[in-house]
Amino acid sequence: MTGIFENRNILCGITGSIAAYKVCDWVRSLRREEAEVKVVMTRAAAKFVTPLTFAALTGNRVYGSMFDSQDEEKIPHIRLARESDLILVAPATAQTIARLAHGLADDLLSAIVLASEAKIVVCPAMNSKMYQHAATQENIEKLKKFGYRVLDPESGMMACDEEGPGRLPEWAHVREAVIAALSPQDLAGKTVIVTAGPTEEPLDPVRFLSNGSSGKMGYAMAATARELGAKVILISGPAQLIPPAGVECIKVRTGAEMYREVLSRFDTADIIVKAAAVSDYRPAVFSADKIKKTGEKAALELEPNRDILHKLGEIKNQRAIPPLLIGFAAESTNLLEHGREKLERKNLDFIVINDITAPDSGFAVDTNRVILLDRQGGQLDFPLLAKEETARRIWRAALKGRL
Ligand code: CTP
Repeated sequence: MTGIFENRNILCGITGSIAAYKVCDWVRSLRREEAEVKVVMTRAAAKFVTPLTFAALTGNRVYGSMFDSQDEEKIPHIRLARESDLILVAPATAQTIARLAHGLADDLLSAIVLASEAKIVVCPAMNSKMYQHAATQENIEKLKKFGYRVLDPESGMMACDEEGPGRLPEWAHVREAVIAALSPQDLAGKTVIVTAGPTEEPLDPVRFLSNGSSGKMGYAMAATARELGAKVILISGPAQLIPPAGVECIKVRTGAEMYREVLSRFDTADIIVKAAAVSDYRPAVFSADKIKKTGEKAALELEPNRDILHKLGEIKNQRAIPPLLIGFAAESTNLLEHGREKLERKNLDFIVINDITAPDSGFAVDTNRVILLDRQGGQLDFPLLAKEETARRIWRAALKGRL
């Protein structure tokens, strides 16, 4: 499997905050995903973590001052500015944010940022009063106007014993922002609805019918649509997953609730991805009281849930510009035959076929091996990949219009 940051040059600009130690782990994660990482530290940053730590983690020398006497290369800022695909300023102190907002170039990091055409991601981390001060807020607005991505800090207890916003976000969120900044914004201006996870069909207050879907594939489709710049609405059945940052998540329980939430947004969607494993049936009767055992055989009467995707396929051509419909099919036999039949019957543009009998594919695992079919008879067989990477490739293929 190739790393998502393969062939990407990422420059980490570390400034003087106690949170600098957290970036050691981030650098390791970037390296693990095959980024080429260089580090620039401000003088204050080097008081919190030694440059040697980052040199060991990156395998590269760490840059400090603009005119480092030990440096054979007198002014490295232009080279570093040019060769970087992305500059991650983290933690970004109020001081550095002010420098960047005013276009100062009085230390190596600010000079690099000023001289660079790279994508810039800034992660503010500071005392919450400093963060909330009008000066800092104004500076942050300026950075956003320059096109930099500035992440919101997290709230919580700070090293200075105060509570409020100012903590460095979790790496998972920063990683998403870094990937998004490096991705082509092919879905900018588009609204994408993704359904994910299982549904639960209650029988009584404590029992329900459900299935083993974890929601991972749907959440991956939502996260990667966001990377490509879409406005994403994730309509999720019960799943033990954290919704991706920047995605609006609507939680539902039953197939009927999912039907309502999807259909009420039908008019706003440019693309609808139905990755949810909707229960085909629900108990015909819901017992408000817990059902008692009798010791006898018992039968359960079920009635069908409405097929959401089928309904979408039925009404999609009523719209002047019909939304793109991407369905999923969980199959255990005759994958292609069943997949194509569902694609036709539900009037889809694409269908993603999952072989649920393969141990490394389908429900509740982190990897997937899928086949993508289009309406024109096209077929694309994907290798075994992490679900996130599978999702990226589905988008890449679907956005071309046909396979
Ligand atoms: N689907 C849906 N609403 C349902 C059932 C399924 O929207 N009530 C969608 C799923 O989200 C998926 C696609 O239909 O995108 C195919 O789901 P799948 O369970 O594979 O197929 P079914 O149509 O339910 O057929 P079967 O269970 O007979 O294989």
